[in-house]
Amino acid sequence: MVVMSVGNGSMPMRWVEPGRCVVNVSDGALENCNGRYEKRLADLSGLYANQMAFDSLLRESGNPVVYSVEDYRLSSKPGDLIFGLTSMAPGYVGDEFFLTRGHIHAEADRPEIYYGQNGDGLMLMESPDGESRIVEIRPRTICYVPPFWIHRSVNVGHENFVMTFVYPADSGQDYEIIARSGGMKQRIVRTESSGWKAVPNENYRPRTADAVQRISKGVA
Ligand SMILES: [Fe+2]
Repeated sequence: MVVMSVGNGSMPMRWVEPGRCVVNVSDGALENCNGRYEKRLADLSGLYANQMAFDSLLRESGNPVVYSVEDYRLSSKPGDLIFGLTSMAPGYVGDEFFLTRGHIHAEADRPEIYYGQNGDGLMLMESPDGESRIVEIRPRTICYVPPFWIHRSVNVGHENFVMTFVYPADSGQDYEIIARSGGMKQRIVRTESSGWKAVPNENYRPRTADAVQRISKGVA
């Protein structure tokens, strides 16, 4: 820790140390991270349209890790940043590609940047009033997730989909916003030509005007 004196010389001031993290793409690891979590298939029950396919994959696969997140966070103070690495295995449940749980930031006006490191994937985004946007992400693609957009990543490739990310440290995450609406408005499924397409989620329930106003803090 670097210690310096402030102008009046009465109190020493402690400055936060600069950080350095190295991305290990093949292991989906962030060297020198100080946080980590992973989601196994069983943790993602209820996200996919085809529950029978989910149950059968879970039985056959031995509950593999679907994605992991490693991050570097020193505080949750306004003005600070949290950054990290996310890595998601390839696969599908029925015809639906592996995806993350997804969230909106608890402080919903906080944005996020994702940067593709490996594989082929998508950022599926949804505004509180039900607009959908999809950004394709490959290595060296930067994806900007603006304030107020719900976001979830999807692996539409054949290898691990790896991205780095950075967001304001006081963002927080609300994971329940998606469940409260019966999922996101669109699902990402395989096509017969091994590509992907977005299809409507039949369980989706639009948010009320009041809910949209509450989430968007009057901006919408
Ligand atoms: Fe986020």
